[in-house]
Amino acid sequence: MTSSILSSARKTQSNDRYYNKALLEIKNLIVEYPVKEGNVRAIDDVSLTLYRGEVLGLVGESGCGKSSLGFTILKLLKGGVIRSGEISFNDINLVTIPEGEMQLLRGPELSMIFQASQNALNPLQKVLNHFIDTLKTHYRWNDESWQKILELLNRLEIPESRLEDYPFQFSGGMQQRIVIALTLILNPKLIIADEPTTALDVLVQARLLEILKEIIKEYDLTVLYITHDLGIVAEITNRVAIMYAGQILEIGDTQTIFQNAAHPYTRALIEAIPNVKDEEKKLLSFIPGHPPDLRNPPLICCFADRCSYSQDICHSKKPQSINLNFENGVQHKVKCFIYDDRYGHLFDQK
Ligand SMILES: Nc1ncnc2c1ncn2[C@@H]1O[C@H](COP(=O)(O)OP(=O)(O)OP(=O)(O)O)[C@@H](O)[C@H]1O
Ligand SMILES: [Mg+2]
Repeated sequence: MTSSILSSARKTQSNDRYYNKALLEIKNLIVEYPVKEGNVRAIDDVSLTLYRGEVLGLVGESGCGKSSLGFTILKLLKGGVIRSGEISFNDINLVTIPEGEMQLLRGPELSMIFQASQNALNPLQKVLNHFIDTLKTHYRWNDESWQKILELLNRLEIPESRLEDYPFQFSGGMQQRIVIALTLILNPKLIIADEPTTALDVLVQARLLEILKEIIKEYDLTVLYITHDLGIVAEITNRVAIMYAGQILEIGDTQTIFQNAAHPYTRALIEAIPNVKDEEKKLLSFIPGHPPDLRNPPLICCFADRCSYSQDICHSKKPQSINLNFENGVQHKVKCFIYDDRYGHLFDQK
């Protein structure tokens, strides 16, 4: 396990104040993409709660359904269908809400920052016009707007002198900062950040992460932070949900996940973090095998075929979510038979 990542996770103190009021509650959500050969089940019975003022990391391998979950919350799924389940945002039912009402929520209430969201900037519009348009579209242009724009430019280290420039005159990192400023200008209650720094080089990414961390604290933002990078999770999140094959296999406080991961998949993910300073220069570990084909979602544990702990039960039934108790009192859930009182004895203590 990478020690530098662990020390970052220690700094991300768990704090009870986060876990009082739910802002977003998802229950037993199933989302599918109908395709020629059947249905791709991108979200498979997901339940999770996002509390006001917390940063919840959503982590998993490519194709496990992270972006689909983000798009489902914003009702921007292209080609996907919500088959069942509930999504409640601030007590509003997002599953049944009419599109006209949803449009009023997107931006001022719920917002999403995409991996390459700089593509969303209009090449024919100066940066200043993007701010004016965003505020006017949502009827938020007022006497304080100018002050707010300057404040955000300053926080995101975008020189005010560049407001008259066009998007193509900025670097990728700077364009991403403009997109983040445009998101924040509307004060959204919930931000879904889908790999917002992945397309950037390491140093630009590090600085942007630092700024994001400060802004999240300063503005008391609630964020669902989607990434496949556990280093970022350790840096920025309070809690983390581990996603695999459309399911949440483990969810808990970030520090606990790094120090006491319960699910064999989470452990394998943490073991696979490369460490350039590793003096032993040990070979990178990896998880043999592939995630299951989501066109035929498994009726057994979705990780069983790749799990070095698996027993017969894992290949014959689907595990339910089990609550684990850790000293910090933050709710921790895991989907694995090892922790099920009825089946735990079947596993060797490895
Ligand atoms: N429009 C679509 N039509 C059919 N299948 C889709 C569509 N969009 C996504 N999928 C499938 O749904 C599953 C989840 O995809 P999704 O993009 O949500 O994963 P992800 O975790 O965000 O991956 P990544 O880390 O690569 O961004 C994948 O199997 C993907 O191929
Ligand atoms: Mg994605």
